[in-house]
Amino acid sequence: MPTSSPLRHAPLRLGVNIDHVATLRNARGGLHPDPLRAAHLAIEGGADGITAHLREDRRHISDTDIARLKNEITRPLNLEMAATAEMQQIALRHIPNACCLVPEKREERTTEGGLDVTGGLKMLTPYIARLRDAGIRVSLFIEPDIATIEASAKAGADIVELHTGKYCHLALENDAGGIAREIERHAKAAASAHALGLEVHAGHGLTYNTVAPIARLPEIVELNIGHFLMGEAIFAGLPNAVRRMRTLMEDARAERARTSAKPRKSA
Ligand code: PXP
Repeated sequence: MPTSSPLRHAPLRLGVNIDHVATLRNARGGLHPDPLRAAHLAIEGGADGITAHLREDRRHISDTDIARLKNEITRPLNLEMAATAEMQQIALRHIPNACCLVPEKREERTTEGGLDVTGGLKMLTPYIARLRDAGIRVSLFIEPDIATIEASAKAGADIVELHTGKYCHLALENDAGGIAREIERHAKAAASAHALGLEVHAGHGLTYNTVAPIARLPEIVELNIGHFLMGEAIFAGLPNAVRRMRTLMEDARAERARTSAKPRKSA
């Protein structure tokens, strides 16, 4: 891959996932706190897009939330959803900027693991084509695994979103060896996806402490972050939390651009 490729050192976007504002609202019923208000505040803090996951069991985001977000936010909406017929109909009704297809299990607390694109290739290929024909960009949430990336390109996806959950889990355990292995896996996966013409995103479990090594990977152009930012918003306010995350992302990106631009010393 030539280093002059236009995606190298491309700006890094931040998509803010507002699901857990709806989790808090639904804990009591009613309308407060409102995910749409959170979306406006995230944009005020510098979010480039808003992400919302409409789950089959509607445990947080509702159908009405999706309609209001699509009609009222001033940045692209990324609709996360399982690859079901019901969700496809909803996506085709609202035409979000992007759909991110995720595996979904009713009993899970959050999205565990990536999509089995190889096993699901036959079903996913026409499913993705239908969304793309309607003008929706399609992203697949996958493990940073080369075979799955190749299958994602075959399935006709525009984007792969690399699941950073395992890396973030190892970071919580201070497992230095595991962290290094996972970052290397993400670096190889991002380079391979970019070489196949896929746009590369990443997310899940990212925090102020874990974002920099992922933000440094030059092929990654978007991070999607939710739970940590909503937790921080309790203490710092949502625009401030988003602003701080953006600063950390941009600092990591700039540092990477500086170090890779340095002329190599001759031997
Ligand atoms: N990307 C995808 C595809 C997800 O499913 C999630 C969780 O909903 C996220 C990013 C954000 O993860 P977190 O809430 O842990 O930041």
